[in-house]
Amino acid sequence: MQARKINAGIYWVGAVDWDRRLFDALIPLPDGTSYNAYLIQGSEKTALIDTVDPAMAHMLLDRLHQLGTEHIDYVIANHAEQDHAGALPQIINRYPEVQVVCTSKCKDMLVDLRLAPPDRFLTVNDGATLSLGDRTLEFIHAPWVHWPETMLTYLREDKILFSCDLFGSHLATTGLYVTDEGQVYEAAKRYYAEIMMPFRKIIQKNLQKIQEHDISLIAPSHGPMYERPEFILAAYRDWVLGDPKNSVVLPFISMHGTTLKMVNYLVDVLTEKGVTVQQFNLAVTDIGKLAMALVDAATIVIGSPTVLTGAHPNVVYAAYLANALRPKLKFASIIGSYGWGGKMVEQIAGLIPNLKVELLNPVVCQGFPGKSDFDALDKLAGSIADKHKEHNLFGIRENKND
Ligand code: FEO
Repeated sequence: MQARKINAGIYWVGAVDWDRRLFDALIPLPDGTSYNAYLIQGSEKTALIDTVDPAMAHMLLDRLHQLGTEHIDYVIANHAEQDHAGALPQIINRYPEVQVVCTSKCKDMLVDLRLAPPDRFLTVNDGATLSLGDRTLEFIHAPWVHWPETMLTYLREDKILFSCDLFGSHLATTGLYVTDEGQVYEAAKRYYAEIMMPFRKIIQKNLQKIQEHDISLIAPSHGPMYERPEFILAAYRDWVLGDPKNSVVLPFISMHGTTLKMVNYLVDVLTEKGVTVQQFNLAVTDIGKLAMALVDAATIVIGSPTVLTGAHPNVVYAAYLANALRPKLKFASIIGSYGWGGKMVEQIAGLIPNLKVELLNPVVCQGFPGKSDFDALDKLAGSIADKHKEHNLFGIRENKND
C-alpha cells in the first residue's frame, strides 16, 4: 500500500496488520488492526506523528521513501507503547537528525524501553505548541488513556486531532476514513471495552478537554479516521457517562449441564420480566464480546460449578477480567452448583472488589437443581428486574411487560 494523502503535505504512512489475531497475548483481534503514523510537511519543518509496530517498521520506512522524505525534524511520540513507538530505533537510524517530542513521563518510559537515547528528546508541557512554519502542533496531555504518559496532538490549521489510542479501533481496512459506521462502532466499542474502560473516570476529563478544540478530523492510531468526529465523540460520551442499560451479562461454565440448566432457567425468567440478557459460555466465548457487553450492563451474574473446592478456572479468569475492566455495573450475583462442598461463592465474590456493586443473594444448589432452587432463581430474577426498575433502566416498551 502506498502512502495516502489526507491534506496537502499531510499523509498516512502507517501499516495495516491484516493477520494479527491477538494483542498483548490477551485480546482477540477478529478483524486484525492497523498502526497509523502520519507525516506532516510544514513550510519549515517536517514531523512524523507516531511510528508503527516494530514488526512493520519496513512499511513505514518504505512509505517515507515513496514520499521522498530525506529529512524529519520531529517524531511526535504520543504514547510509549511498542505498537506506536516500537519503530523509533529504525526512524532514528534512518533520520539521525530527528528529535523525539513527548511528555516528560513518556521520555522516561521510552528510555527505559531502550527505544530512544536520552539526548534525543524535546519534552513538551500540556498546551505547548510547536511550529512547523505554516502549521502548528498543539500538545494535549491525556494521562491514562491508557498509559500515564499519553498525549494527543492537535494540528491547528487543519483542525486534525491525532488521538493515538483514544477513539481507536482494531480494524484492518484499506479505507482511510470511516465509511461503515456500524462496523466501526462495533470495533471501537470492543477497543474501548478492552483498553479504555478501566480509565472511564479520567477519560471524562479528557473528553471535556478535547471538546474545547474545533475538530474536523480525528486521526487515531488504530483503525480508520473519523471525518464525522461527533460519531465517535457521542459514542464515547454514552460509554463513559451514560447510565447502564437494562441488561444482564451472564458468563458461565457448566461441566455436566447443572449450571447450564440454572443459567437457561434464569435467562428465561429474566427475559419474561423484560430484562435483556447476554449469556457467555466461557468454554467457547470470545472474551472481547464479553468485555463489550460489560460496557452497558447494569448487572453481572456469574455461573460456575465447583471444581477442586472453588470456581472453575475459566470463571476465575472471567471474574478477574471483569474486575480489572471496572465497568459501570450496579449489581452482581453468583449461581452454580456443588457436589459435596466448597468455597466457590466466596472465591468469586473475593475476585471482584473493584466492582462497586450490590451483591444480590447467590443461588447455589447441591447436585441437580430442584424446586427450591428454581424458586430461588425466580426470586433472583425478580430482584434484578426490581433493581433495574428502581434505577429507571427500563424503557417504555420493557415496562409494558409488567
Ligand atoms: Fe495502541 Fe496503547 O497502544
